[in-house]
Amino acid sequence: MRVGFYQFAPILREVEINLGKVETAIRHTRADLVVLPEMCFTGYMLSSRDELAKFAEPVPTGPICCRMVDLCRERNTSLAFGLAEQDADRIYNSAVLVTNSGDVHVYRKSHLFLDEKDIFDPGDTPFPVFRLDGVGIGMLVCFDYIFPESGRALALNGAQVVCHPSNLVLDYAQWMTLTRAAENRVFWIVANRTGSETSAEKTLSFTGRSQVVAPTGKLLYRAGTDTEELPVIDIDPRDALDKMATPRNHLLEDRRTDLYPR
Ligand code: ACM
Repeated sequence: MRVGFYQFAPILREVEINLGKVETAIRHTRADLVVLPEMCFTGYMLSSRDELAKFAEPVPTGPICCRMVDLCRERNTSLAFGLAEQDADRIYNSAVLVTNSGDVHVYRKSHLFLDEKDIFDPGDTPFPVFRLDGVGIGMLVCFDYIFPESGRALALNGAQVVCHPSNLVLDYAQWMTLTRAAENRVFWIVANRTGSETSAEKTLSFTGRSQVVAPTGKLLYRAGTDTEELPVIDIDPRDALDKMATPRNHLLEDRRTDLYPR
């Protein structure tokens, strides 16, 4: 399976420019699955719930989703990307998986970061896993990584590859996701953005260093801090089916759920 990520700096509120940039990059790429950053078509720091509502769209019928369905069919590829999802009076910080056959799946960010708590609704999708050419694909959105339960839930649900659209700001995030991959023995694709955004006198700087991690925790590829890149590497997702940390230790079956607090 040829997998990758597109690390770039989306421009806040410039949806058409960001869409065009992604379309051009994907048209120059041959891959089975590419992961894009969180909120990568609108930018991240929309200033209020009202402004967010203007940029949010229903899944799968919204304009960004429709453009990505067309792109995936045209290129025979699959994409996982972040977007603001409108569902009735709710708005979620979602990750969307569009498959090469045009199927659309969604995961809604469970753990809202900082001021996201003021403008988004917390997700209500308990870590679904989708089949892509027989491979279990799970998604998380950015700050979800800091809760080990998120990655563990995806592993228990059968994920072999975790797609992780992100706008990371905490410096240790990339290191933590090496551990998340190893503790669950899954592939982990972090698609982070670069650059910075300012809104209401607050500035966030995003840390780049998107990465692909093997189920052993080995770093297969890491991007630069400020580079625009779309690397693609070959992985064998069957490697994520082996959950033995040692010949006598199964990472999921050896858990002492009788001893852990709820
Ligand atoms: C984040 O969750 N965007 C840090």
